[in-house]
Amino acid sequence: MCEEKKTFYITTPIYYPSTSLHIGNAYTTVAADAIARFKRLSGYDVMFLTGTDEHGQKIQRIAEENGVKPKEYVDKVVDGIKELWQLMNISYDKFIRTTDDSHIKAVQEIFVKLYQNGDIYKGSYEGAYCTPCESFWTDTQLLDGKCPDCGRNVEKAKEEAYFFKMSKYAERLLQYIEANPSFIQPESRKNEMINNFLKPGLQDLCVSRTSFNWGIPVEFDKSHVVYVWIDALSNYITALGYGSENTKLYERYWPADVHLIGKDILRFHTIYWPIMLMALELPLPKQIFGHGWLLVDGGKMSKSKGNVVDPVILSKHFGVDSIRYYLLREIPFGSDGTFTNETFIKKINSDLANDLGNLVSRTVAMIEKYFDGVIPAPIATETIDNELIRLALDTPELVEKSLDDLKLSEALSHIWTLIGRCNKYIDETTPWILAKDEDQKERLGTVLYNLAEALRIISVLISPFLPDTSDKIREQLGVEICTWDSVASFDGISAGTKVKKGNIIFPRIDVEEKLKELEALKVDDNIQKEEAPLKPIKPEITIEDFEKVDLRIAKVLECEAIKGAKKLLKLKVDLGGETRQVISGIAKHYKPEDLVGKSVVLVANLKPAKLRGELSEGMILAASNDDDSILYVIDAPSELKVGNEIR
Ligand code: MSP
Repeated sequence: MCEEKKTFYITTPIYYPSTSLHIGNAYTTVAADAIARFKRLSGYDVMFLTGTDEHGQKIQRIAEENGVKPKEYVDKVVDGIKELWQLMNISYDKFIRTTDDSHIKAVQEIFVKLYQNGDIYKGSYEGAYCTPCESFWTDTQLLDGKCPDCGRNVEKAKEEAYFFKMSKYAERLLQYIEANPSFIQPESRKNEMINNFLKPGLQDLCVSRTSFNWGIPVEFDKSHVVYVWIDALSNYITALGYGSENTKLYERYWPADVHLIGKDILRFHTIYWPIMLMALELPLPKQIFGHGWLLVDGGKMSKSKGNVVDPVILSKHFGVDSIRYYLLREIPFGSDGTFTNETFIKKINSDLANDLGNLVSRTVAMIEKYFDGVIPAPIATETIDNELIRLALDTPELVEKSLDDLKLSEALSHIWTLIGRCNKYIDETTPWILAKDEDQKERLGTVLYNLAEALRIISVLISPFLPDTSDKIREQLGVEICTWDSVASFDGISAGTKVKKGNIIFPRIDVEEKLKELEALKVDDNIQKEEAPLKPIKPEITIEDFEKVDLRIAKVLECEAIKGAKKLLKLKVDLGGETRQVISGIAKHYKPEDLVGKSVVLVANLKPAKLRGELSEGMILAASNDDDSILYVIDAPSELKVGNEIR
């Protein structure tokens, strides 16, 4: 009977389609791809899942700012993300979108189930919300009043909401983590989770929102949408059909072997997610691995800081495999790594052009020159060959062991030790001297066979990391087979095989010249950007000056667009005892229906003015960033009466 293949289920986080992705985001996916490819190569039935996390207030706002519906917005961005993965050679088996109907239905079912089991209850929430991180924080968790994760401003939020009884499962989770040492990896991250979050005690988690509607509606209370992290984390099982009629994939692949994530989202994956699964009475994933960051200038790369490195630009200049190599080699197991154009180019030159590229071109060129391109038979073996052959046969096991521990950089370093050994073997055996002596023809043939065969093994070993390069090497060697079995013996190439000299696989790059070229392209501009200086503060005023401004709480009663004035909205606001008409230049940022019912701050004694023929009796306060791309109307506390003065 044919033995069934062992399964391996690996996931990446699902990406926010809020911005185009940068090379830091690509790191998680490239790493997961290398692992998935290796598992396929070594005989596993692999499920590699990635996708997009498309709901939440942040996406809703961005879509509004772009003047499109959220779904329209995410559809476009998701297409771009898929193109990027194609470019980066990502071999995912499934791409889940949280806007997929099947996911929405399953999340609704999960929510109902948790509610019916008594793990979710209705209450009300008062606290701080970080929209970019989609996270609630208590006042004690805030750092200097800002989000402890990203350092940005938080917004006060109070609303009726559903809560998840996290605390009920805290002890059980702690015991589970302690009994399963490899559940959270690397070790340092496990301790961080235990000491910073679990031991101090868990608070119940707010798992629904009512202040926006771009989310999955709670089935039995449609004014609420499910908290994005509950929605997003569920993807790991809904993608397999959990909660649908067809659960075949779920039965086959769950529990996941590894959720590969960046260290910033560890808390969600190692605390909320396992607790959700416990409450659903489902098995927990076998491992959650929180990798380090790819840093630029010692700091985190992010769109908001304006220091992102664009993988599309890099791939045009250096090829996708160079990027894959740098990411996987440069960030050691679990720690942070840095990116600069200069270190990147130098690494390409030393490891890819010099070590690997030269080995390929020298070997193939010598077989062409001395044997008319036909790989000779190894019939004159000497003891010096054994060291190379031994290393070539030992390396696959070392690579496998490193990859089992998810030590990708270490796995590559084992392969480069073998590459280095081959180059040294050329220096030791000096084929160009052997070639001068007709009596040494068989010895020369043996040396070149050994080099070609070692290269074949190298091509198989690098295939998970550098898939295109792996193919190119085998093409030049004239061999097709790329299997794990074939690296167990040193006789995979048949003598008589014809080599085919191809292009240089990694041309050497002139560092200075390339850096200049990139600078001209403004790639470095992105990397070096400094924070904009503070705008000059206006001349001083006295308290008496300030008291002249009459600020009042007002409530928006009606709001409509003004024909022919794209930027303006016409609002009717209640001042308590009187109604005012206000014309406000916020149409790019708000739809009329979003403002109705909102409590705002009105400059009530501003001299009335006519805008586009419409009378404006006051001004609504709003804040925006410098280029006006983001703007928020300032919220007034809704608990206070309209007409109240603000001092
Ligand atoms: N949508 C959530 C994940 C939900 S999973 C149920 C999310 N998305 S993200 O788009 O912001 O980030 C995706 C991945 O990119 C995360 O693993 C994050 O850690 C990783 N990275 C983002 N910037 C990074 C670097 N500069 N370096 C390495 N990885 C980084 O979080």
